[in-house]
Amino acid sequence: MPTAAARTRHVCQSCGFTTSKWLGRCPSCGEWETLVEERAVPRKRGSAKTAARAVPYAEVEEEPLRRFPSGDRELDRTLGGGVVPGSLILLGGEPGVGKSTLLLQVADRLGRSGRRVLYVAGEESARQIKLRGDRLGVAGDHLFLAAETDLDSILASARSLAPDLLVVDSVQTVHSAALESVPGSLGQIRECAGQLLAFAKSEEVAVCLIGHITKDGALAGPKTLEHVVDVVLSFEGERHQNQKIVRAVKNRFGPANELGVFEMTGRGLEPVDNPSRLFLSERVQSVAGSAVLCAMAGSRPVLVEIQALVSSSNYSTARRMANGIDPNRVALLLAMLEKRLGLEMLGSDVFVNAAGGLSPSEPAADLPLVAAILSSLRERPVPPETALFGEVGLLGEVRAVSSAATRVKEARNLGFCRVILPKSNLPLPESFENVELTAVESITELVRALDKNPSRALK
Ligand code: TYD
Ligand code: MG
Repeated sequence: MPTAAARTRHVCQSCGFTTSKWLGRCPSCGEWETLVEERAVPRKRGSAKTAARAVPYAEVEEEPLRRFPSGDRELDRTLGGGVVPGSLILLGGEPGVGKSTLLLQVADRLGRSGRRVLYVAGEESARQIKLRGDRLGVAGDHLFLAAETDLDSILASARSLAPDLLVVDSVQTVHSAALESVPGSLGQIRECAGQLLAFAKSEEVAVCLIGHITKDGALAGPKTLEHVVDVVLSFEGERHQNQKIVRAVKNRFGPANELGVFEMTGRGLEPVDNPSRLFLSERVQSVAGSAVLCAMAGSRPVLVEIQALVSSSNYSTARRMANGIDPNRVALLLAMLEKRLGLEMLGSDVFVNAAGGLSPSEPAADLPLVAAILSSLRERPVPPETALFGEVGLLGEVRAVSSAATRVKEARNLGFCRVILPKSNLPLPESFENVELTAVESITELVRALDKNPSRALK
């Protein structure tokens, strides 16, 4: 019987060099740690492949996508309406963020609705999982646990159980006997994911892989699966913060960028109905350096507080720090402010922060960011009950952004009585009562708008 080594090869991820033995350094390109074990697929010489059947576009049958609800409203929203049978989902996040908790809760809800779930635990014993389940109030109907790390055993068990959902916690712990490399290595992760993908498609079972991913990319293995899987969900949230966000980074079956918001409580993850309220809950009103952004999180509007602190620097090079906001964007807007408003910022430290853990990466955050910086610099709070959104260009011009009406509506619903927005976003497709719209075309107009209180606020 051939050994595993004879059936595998090591391929350099940098130059494609192939060798039968693992090497620390690729002899071809000289890169370190780039050789990854793969299964060597013996290819018969001259074997003629049958031609792929090409179907005329017009004759391709349309089939509505089948989905079943996960039982978790926020997760369903993130997935684009529910779980698609046969899909491979990667749930990535830092250790301790709550991945196992979320999927155990989902498994329980599915069980209660009569769907069968196989939860494969590679990191914890079945008893440990049950301990967590007791805390979460898991009933356990139709829920099966397997503390197993061998891929063939897992697949055999999944074939005989025929679950609606297979959870693999985590992809870093499973290993295939086809490869010699250790669990968690790039080769094993790819091989296992490949086989689980084949299983998902052939048996029409939804498979969810949990992957530990750290911010600094220290456990980068699962990241390389992103192009293989159908859906990539990113679970985010600071360890010491209770709000957690599940974001669809990629979704073959629905819109990407949708997100679900949860709060970690003593009884597990609770869906958050009104994320805006949560994100603004700790906001201190009437303090300089704070502005509220009407952001779009996928298709949902969310209000987020943007904070800025501008202070004169004691260093020869002023410090610039951005938390939850792209630092390049901050640098660019600061340079624009210097040039367009003649502000002296070179000697000032500037710190900016998106409060609450939601990192707004859209251009609409420019206007509140500039407002927060100006507010801190001038020691003058942004007028009360005012929210903002809009992109700012290098010339100081304020540009239109998408979904303006949805953003205004969310601000009004949360009691804001004034919204500062790009003039080019007007007219809005609908009219709003009880909210004053201040349209601005440039940064100079923004300054003017910030000097004026909303007419209704100071009643
Ligand atoms: P866990 O799901 O184990 O994280 P991951 O699988 O992503 O590594 O849970 C993470 C944290 O959640 C853990 O530190 C304890 C906390 N937690 C609660 O606060 N409440 C709960 O009901 C549970 C089950 C966990
Ligand atoms: Mg876990």
